Amino acid sequence: MRILGIETSCDETGAALFEEGRGVVAERLASQIELHRRFGGVVPELASRDHVAKLAPMIREVLDEAGIAPADLDGVAYTAGPGLIGALMVGGAVGSALAYALGIPAIPVHHMEGHVLAPMLEPEPPAFPFLALLVSGGHTQLVEAQAVGRYRILGETLDDAAGEAFDKTARLLDLPYPGGPAIAALADNGDPAAYPLPRPLLGAGLDFSFSGLKTAVRLAAEAARERAGGVLPEQARADLAASFQAAVVDTLAAKCARALEETGLERLVVAGGVGANRALRAALAALGERRGVRVHYPRPALCTDNAAMIAYAGWCRRRTDAPWPPRIVARPRWPLDELEPAG
Ligand code: KG4
Ligand code: ZN
Repeated sequence: MRILGIETSCDETGAALFEEGRGVVAERLASQIELHRRFGGVVPELASRDHVAKLAPMIREVLDEAGIAPADLDGVAYTAGPGLIGALMVGGAVGSALAYALGIPAIPVHHMEGHVLAPMLEPEPPAFPFLALLVSGGHTQLVEAQAVGRYRILGETLDDAAGEAFDKTARLLDLPYPGGPAIAALADNGDPAAYPLPRPLLGAGLDFSFSGLKTAVRLAAEAARERAGGVLPEQARADLAASFQAAVVDTLAAKCARALEETGLERLVVAGGVGANRALRAALAALGERRGVRVHYPRPALCTDNAAMIAYAGWCRRRTDAPWPPRIVARPRWPLDELEPAG
């Protein structure tokens, strides 16, 4: 079985071909970071237009590289949500039209299910059940993954996503978008203990809150700027970046520890762009060692948004699920635990 996967939920255009028995045969990804950089964040209308321009030629390239004719496809999986409505509509319309023309199913895929299942594409995939920490620019969730389509949301952010907090804090420190890598690089030269920033909700439950942290950084930066006579000194910037990163990492690691404790799960999967953060990886590796828990990181290309995970999730669904009604599904908001179990 061969499934074409399409990803257009936010600011990455992706197409990939997954073939049963062979895995990901070809894939393409185009980032819109340059397009949105000067705005300091994703501009939805620009994102949609860029998907329109890039997607169809990209699908052609992926099929050509795989040496596969459209008629050899068995399904077209597209990200149906959550995400930006205009961006989702592009992938949904292109994927559905292609599937309709070929007489094969169009498979609407939940973007976060794609992230949860992405580590299955690695040589040593985690066995169900596992704990998934999903940390991206749009989401921060702790999920108990019991099987394909059976997810229990244990905790999530009450305000900003972890990546969003990195991006907004980066703006405060005059760093470029996306903020995560920029803050991480600056933090290398800073002292994580220099500023005692809050660890919101650390003591309670499995939910997260990051907006207060961002405010604390803003206030600390303003005070440091004032003390230095109007410009934020370079060392203070680095110390703020390091202190902010430490607060996020401490919070994420503590919640993972509590979730593992409460569920008794023995495997932890980390996915989403923030999963690329080295300080976070070190903290979770230490946690895994302490608790005898195996920590899985999909490789960076599978951790961030990509179409391979959508093709794979589509294949999981295509194998077991009843045919989908022929309509374009686009759900900007779509809780992961509203999915039907596969089969
Ligand atoms: O999963 P992703 O590529 O896209 C979605 O948001 O869906 O995640 C992007 C987010 C951005 O907020 C970016 O700042 C953050 O991941 N990020 C990082 C790092 N690399 C990317 N955050 C912290 N440290 C990093 N090294
Ligand atoms: Zn994502």
